[in-house]
Amino acid sequence: MTITEQTTVGEVASTVPASVRVFQQFGIDFCCGGGKTLAQVCGEKGIPLEGLLAGVEKAQEPAAASQVRDWNAGSLAVLIDYILNKHHEYLKSEMPRLGSMLAKVIQVHGNNHPESLHPLGKVYGGLKRELEEHMWKEENVLFPLIKQLEEVHNGSGAPFRGMPVGGPIRMMEMEHESAGEALRHMRELTSGYTPPADACNTYRALLHGLLEMEADLHEHIHLENNILFPRAVAL
Ligand SMILES: [Fe+2]
Ligand SMILES: [Fe+2]
Repeated sequence: MTITEQTTVGEVASTVPASVRVFQQFGIDFCCGGGKTLAQVCGEKGIPLEGLLAGVEKAQEPAAASQVRDWNAGSLAVLIDYILNKHHEYLKSEMPRLGSMLAKVIQVHGNNHPESLHPLGKVYGGLKRELEEHMWKEENVLFPLIKQLEEVHNGSGAPFRGMPVGGPIRMMEMEHESAGEALRHMRELTSGYTPPADACNTYRALLHGLLEMEADLHEHIHLENNILFPRAVAL
């Protein structure tokens, strides 16, 4: 694919998987905001287009690219299992840990940083609840449906008995949008996850953990929005 300034971030992220790391470096949203063109995001972020293109080019070099898997080929069932094992399991173990650290930090530092920590607690709590329900729906409704669709498509012989996937997919995309919004809000409330001068180790570890969760969630939503869902719709 020839990448130009009119190519969208989502297209680049799905055809050049290694580009995801470059987008992360520049703080470019490649999942929910993936519909924007490179020219648009460069304008918004004040990044020179040539710099971004050079980074994407470099990421495609064999040494860098070989560590990233291309999910545009191969079975959707394998991709689904990868998402479950890597991203859903991560959130299930990480969200309670971050939640209890956040509660502790609010208790100790809440009065010194009320404008940041109290709203952070609310936004994080909402995001956690939403993601728990969201993952339940993917695991129990949408993903089994996609797996069944793929089996029928591969000629298992069994008739497809599920509902059309378009509706549930649109719902998941809307929920991703809402999670993306919560992440943007948390980043703003924490000044880009920068610890204040008086932050204790728990406070620092919390911000570091939230930063990692942001990166993981961006990658997770990218795999679903830009690869899994379009491929399922195509079936
Ligand atoms: Fe998911
Ligand atoms: Fe999802």
